[in-house]
Amino acid sequence: MLLLQKPLPSFTGSLVLLVQHKACKLKNHGRFGSDTKFSGDGYFQKHLKSGRRHFSKSRGPFVSCSLVPSTSELSDARVIYCVAPAMGHNQESHPESNFRVPAIVSALEKMELSPMFRGSEILELHSFSPASVEDIVSVHTKAYVSGLEKSMDQASQKGIIYIDGSGPTYATATTFQESLLAAGAGITLVDSVVAASKSSQDPPMGFALIRPPGHHAIPKGPMGFCVFGNVAIAARYAQRVHGLKRVFIIDFDVHHGNGTNDAFYDDPDIFFLSTHQDGSYPGTGKIDEVGHGSGEGATLNLPLPGGSGDIAMRTVFDEVIVPSAQRFKPDIILVSAGYDGHVLDPLASLQFTTGTYYMLASNIKQLAKDLCGGRCVFFLEGGYNLSSLSYSVADSFRAFLGEPSLASEFDDPAILYEEPSTKVKQAIQKVKHLHSL
Ligand SMILES: *[C@@H]1O[C@H](CO)[C@@H](O)[C@H](O)[C@H]1NC(C)=O
Ligand SMILES: *[C@@H]1O[C@H](CO)[C@@H](O)[C@H](O)[C@H]1NC(C)=O
Ligand SMILES: [Zn+2]
Repeated sequence: MLLLQKPLPSFTGSLVLLVQHKACKLKNHGRFGSDTKFSGDGYFQKHLKSGRRHFSKSRGPFVSCSLVPSTSELSDARVIYCVAPAMGHNQESHPESNFRVPAIVSALEKMELSPMFRGSEILELHSFSPASVEDIVSVHTKAYVSGLEKSMDQASQKGIIYIDGSGPTYATATTFQESLLAAGAGITLVDSVVAASKSSQDPPMGFALIRPPGHHAIPKGPMGFCVFGNVAIAARYAQRVHGLKRVFIIDFDVHHGNGTNDAFYDDPDIFFLSTHQDGSYPGTGKIDEVGHGSGEGATLNLPLPGGSGDIAMRTVFDEVIVPSAQRFKPDIILVSAGYDGHVLDPLASLQFTTGTYYMLASNIKQLAKDLCGGRCVFFLEGGYNLSSLSYSVADSFRAFLGEPSLASEFDDPAILYEEPSTKVKQAIQKVKHLHSL
């Protein structure tokens, strides 16, 4: 049985086979047993507001099962990715739209970066399970998870509901299942890169092309377009299931990943390093937020002044990211890959270019190879200009493949202005001083 997603009218790529239902045992994909008791979903109910109807009907739950590729498939692959586009989770004219992942998939096809063109070098995993409730509650409260599941009835009656609090986030009839699927894609990629690293020094890089994004989601609710903390859930999973004790998370989204930051603020074994635009949403992630208790020093926040671009990020990589990771000695690197720092992104005002994202992908791959057997998975977070988003992800794939960047075909240096180099230098000096780098 195949569950097919209807492609969007304007979407010309070959995004048809998204979830394959193999005849295998189904994991618990979100339903709570009737014997499970919760402290109540009061918070969640309080923050539910109904909204206008935008989306009509549930597509029903996604069903699939985890299938880590065979050792021989894994040994040929340079990139391994999953696609979970959450087509039902959408609100008209919302920037975090269901056009985002199809735009990336379509660009990968057009630029001949898909399995169809590359054979075994690029591997798409079609079969992956939604995350289990056990996985989600490693980061979120049971009350939130059950509350969101229960609210799906209301969402399917009303079409869309809003959950307010900080940064209103919407939910539709499919939000719960599609968010479990996004988190499940990340988990399966962790399984795959870990499996590959057992027989190769140079395993494929993982990329979860998923939404809704995750890095703002808080333990008891969604926040800022994010539903479940995909990267945080994968970090806990890597520890619990694979015994990878030390996880290094790099978050280069233009916004501060406050959900991930808080999940591990007092945890010495999960290093969270975030660069973000100073003063942008949600306002957290100040330079002196460095972790707490035994986790002190294992959180590094580097707010960059507006206008910071390629030069700033290259310096940050060499002077901050590399020495932090070297000192931490991770067992795996996970990346909150947000592309909203691109100069063309409508939501912020950094000046990263497609070339900046190529540099990040290439250097992070090398870092993972040097420090943790090459185990590394990227998780899509933000990125709201469909063309800069998809070109940047495609160029990240080229970096993973070790091929030259094609950024110069897309980037227009004429739109860039001078970076605030003095302020950048001050911020870097300050963070190096605070963290003794
Ligand atoms: C960001 O998320 C954290 C994590 O739960 C939460 O404690 C904090 O209040 C959030 N920040 C804002 C500004 O809402
Ligand atoms: C996205 O970038 C393109 C250039 O490739 C530009 O023409 C367009 O206006 C941008 N869109 C948004 C929403 O910023
Ligand atoms: Zn963002």
